[in-house]
Amino acid sequence: MLSHKKIAVVGAGHIGGALIGGMLRAKLTASKNIKASRRSKTALAVLKKDWGINVTTANKAAVRGADIVILAVKPQVSPAVITELAAVIRPEQLIISLMAGITAKTIGQKLGQPCPVVRAMPNTPCLVDAGATAIAAGVHAGANDLAIAERIFSSVGMVVTLPESAMDAVTGLSGTGPVYIFMVIEAMIDGGVKMGIPRSVATILATQTVLGAAKLVQETGKHPAILKDEVTTPGGTAINAIHVLEAKGLRSVLIDAIMTATQRSQELSRLYGD
Ligand SMILES: NC(=O)c1ccc[n+]([C@@H]2O[C@H](COP(=O)([O-])OP(=O)(O)OC[C@H]3O[C@@H](n4cnc5c(N)ncnc54)[C@H](OP(=O)(O)O)[C@@H]3O)[C@@H](O)[C@H]2O)c1
Repeated sequence: MLSHKKIAVVGAGHIGGALIGGMLRAKLTASKNIKASRRSKTALAVLKKDWGINVTTANKAAVRGADIVILAVKPQVSPAVITELAAVIRPEQLIISLMAGITAKTIGQKLGQPCPVVRAMPNTPCLVDAGATAIAAGVHAGANDLAIAERIFSSVGMVVTLPESAMDAVTGLSGTGPVYIFMVIEAMIDGGVKMGIPRSVATILATQTVLGAAKLVQETGKHPAILKDEVTTPGGTAINAIHVLEAKGLRSVLIDAIMTATQRSQELSRLYGD
């Protein structure tokens, strides 16, 4: 599907760079078919050395001749970058935007071309091929465009398809979600250290516990509440810990965090989206 496509990655930072690595490791395309742009020549030299791809500081040069254009700059710089690209973008190019809060309609309007636009909301575990990405078809995008985006993001983790209206909520849940779990891991490590476990060992145990619990939910398909009940012995340690977690509002606090991150994504969308 992608082996002969030319792919431009505009703003090849953390996520853009992870995608380049993922696509090449998965052999979706050859390195000669990828061209990355960003402003730092040093960072581009590293990308070229690591992956053998073409690099440039000129965004227009990156997208000329590309079949697929991945927009991976921060939302704050998107108006300038999209306006710059409008002069060279052609209507048959597929635009895949990672930019949080920038709607497909806004991208289409700013480009001034009826290009198919697919929005994607990945997360940083893409860096270790364990990402969670939601994709949404925007203006002029069809099933084949979504399939191409799905193939690209599958190279760095799991992919779901949703309507574009869900993208702010996805940003609040999985886009920002790694941060919540980093804090949970950090707190569990501190808890272990407080109870006398060396920090290095507590780090291994806490991290593997989070990874293992997630895998158990994923692989058994059981509801997390059932898995919780299965290990909760009457009068045991788990029920005592659950009592404290409920009293301190663990679940409400996480729901609130996802709600507030979603609302902030909506605000940023209003700020940079038009
Ligand atoms: N990180 C996440 O967890 C996450 C999750 C979901 C979605 N996203 C979205 O993914 C996008 C990228 O995020 P990121 O975390 O990868 O950010 P990042 O590491 O800062 O990457 C963005 C890159 O854009 C480059 N850039 C800045 N101005 C530019 C310009 N005028 N022309 C070309 N390149 C330019 C920067 O490199 P230079 O300074 O060298 O130009 C930078 O490396 C954002 O829109 C974000 O909303 C991120």
